[in-house]
Amino acid sequence: VRHTLTTIAPTLGGGALPLAAVQLESVLDGVHDGVILRAGDRVTLNAAARRILAAPDGIEFRVALVNPRTLDGEPFALGANDLPGQDAIDNGTGGRFRIRVTAFDGRELVLDGSVSPAGAGAVIVFRDVTDEHERSELNVRTLNALFAALPIAVSVADAETREIRVANPAFAKLVDRSIESMVGLRPPFPWWLESETGEDRFTPGTRTECVFVRPDGRPRSVEVRVQEVRDERGEAALLLAVITDLSEGRRMQQQLVQSGKLAAIGELAAGVAHEINNPLFAILGLTEFLLKEAEPGSRAHQRLELIQTTGLEIKEIVRALLDFARENAEERHEVHVTDVVRDTINLIRRTNAHKGVELVETYCDGDAVVYGSPNQLKQILLNLVANARQAMPHGGTVRVDVHCHDDSVMVTVSDEGPGIPVDVAPRIFAPFFTTKRATGGTGLGLSVSLGIAEAHGGTLTVASEHGDGAAFTLCLPTAGDDG
Ligand SMILES: Nc1ncnc2c1ncn2[C@@H]1O[C@H](COP(=O)(O)OP(=O)(O)OP(=O)(O)O)[C@@H](O)[C@H]1O
Ligand SMILES: [Mg+2]
Repeated sequence: VRHTLTTIAPTLGGGALPLAAVQLESVLDGVHDGVILRAGDRVTLNAAARRILAAPDGIEFRVALVNPRTLDGEPFALGANDLPGQDAIDNGTGGRFRIRVTAFDGRELVLDGSVSPAGAGAVIVFRDVTDEHERSELNVRTLNALFAALPIAVSVADAETREIRVANPAFAKLVDRSIESMVGLRPPFPWWLESETGEDRFTPGTRTECVFVRPDGRPRSVEVRVQEVRDERGEAALLLAVITDLSEGRRMQQQLVQSGKLAAIGELAAGVAHEINNPLFAILGLTEFLLKEAEPGSRAHQRLELIQTTGLEIKEIVRALLDFARENAEERHEVHVTDVVRDTINLIRRTNAHKGVELVETYCDGDAVVYGSPNQLKQILLNLVANARQAMPHGGTVRVDVHCHDDSVMVTVSDEGPGIPVDVAPRIFAPFFTTKRATGGTGLGLSVSLGIAEAHGGTLTVASEHGDGAAFTLCLPTAGDDG
C-alpha cells in the first residue's frame, strides 16, 4: 500500500482538506525532481523519486535501504530503521547534499539535492546527477593527468597570498624538490636567487626571465609566464605559473650549431687534407733522402730528424682529418656491436695501450646489430678509452658497458678521473679543442668520434659531475629486424 499524501497533509499544510492534499499529490507526481516527504514516521516518495530510486510499490522507505555514502564512498553512520530528514528535523535547519546511493535495482547513483525541515517533518528534493557527476569527475581526472604528464613545469598559487597550492612533477624536477615539500610555501621561494627576491614575478600576463637555484646550488635559467585563473565572479582566484627551462633550449641550440659546424668542417677538412698531403709527402720524402746523406750525430742530422718528426705529426693530424671527413667512404654492413667492443678491448689489452688503468667490461645478453662500419666504431672506442686513461694518470678503472635496448644499443665508457670542468664541457666536441696541447693532444678525438656517431644515425653524449669522473655514451640505432 502506497502512503498517500492524504496521510501527511495535515502535518504539512496545517489542517488542509483532503481534496487539497490529493491535488498536492498529483502536483508532486508531476514534478520532475525526486521529492521525499517525511511526516512523523511516514515517508512518501513522489513518482520521480520512485522512478529514480526504482523503489518497489508499497515499500517502507528507510534510509539504509539505499546505502547512502559520501562521494568518496564513505558510508554514513545509520541505523537500519533511520528515516530520511532526521537531522533537519532535529536541528531545524536543512542543507544541500551530493551523495552516492544504490538504487533498489542495484544501479549506483549520485544524487544532488537539499533537505529542508517542514513543520514537524522534512522535505527532501533531489536530482539524479550520476552522468553529470561522472563527466565532471572525468574532466577533473583528465586535467589532473594532463597536469602530471605535462613536460612543462607548472605551479598553481593562491592569487592573494601567493601560497603554492600544487605543482606538477615537471616543476618538482626543475627545482629538484618534492611536490609535498613545496605545497604551502610562500614567496620568497627557496629556489629564487637571493639577489632577485625583491622582484615580483607574479604579475599576471607577464613573462620574466630569471634563474632558479636547486638545493645543490646548480642554477637553471628559466622563463616564467604568469596566468590568472578567475572564479565565477570574475575575480582572480589562482595564479598559474608556467615555467620553461631555457637551459635545455640553449643546449639544443648549441648542439645544432655544433653539428652544423662539424658538417662544414668535415667538407673543409677533406679538401685541406688533400692539399696538405701532397706537399707533405714531398717534404717527408726529401727529408728522408737528406737524412741518409747527413753525417749521423751532426747538427744537420738532428735538425732533419726534427723536421721528420714534425712532418710525421702533421701526417697524423691529416690522417685524423681524413678519417673525420671520410665518414661515408667505408662500406657499411651489419655489425655486432658486442663483437666490435670485444675486439677493441682485446686490441687495447694486447698492445698494452691501457697503461696503468684497469679495464672492466660488461655486455648485454642481447645481440645488438647496427648498420655501420666496424673500423669507425672501433675508432670511437679507442678515442674514448684513450681519453679515459689520460684522465687518470695515477691509475683507476675504465668501465666499458654495453646495454641493449629494443631499438638502440648504448656503449658507455666511464672513468674515475677529475671529470670535465663546467667551463670546458661545452667545447670538448669542438674540433681542435684540447686541454692536452702540452702532451700532444690534437683535440680531434671527440669531434671525429661525434662525427662518426652522427653519420651512423647515433649520438655521442657525456655526463660528468666535476670531480667525479666522466661517462661518455655512444648510442646507435639497431638495424631493422629484416636481417
Ligand atoms: N674522460 C675525460 N675526462 C676529462 N676530460 C676529458 C675526458 N675526455 C675528454 N676530455 C676533455 O675533452 C678534450 C677534448 O678531447 P679530445 O679527445 O677531442 O681531444 P684530446 O684528447 O685533447 O686530443 P686527442 O684525442 O686528439 O689526443 C680533452 O682535451 C679533455 O680536456
Ligand atoms: Mg682524445
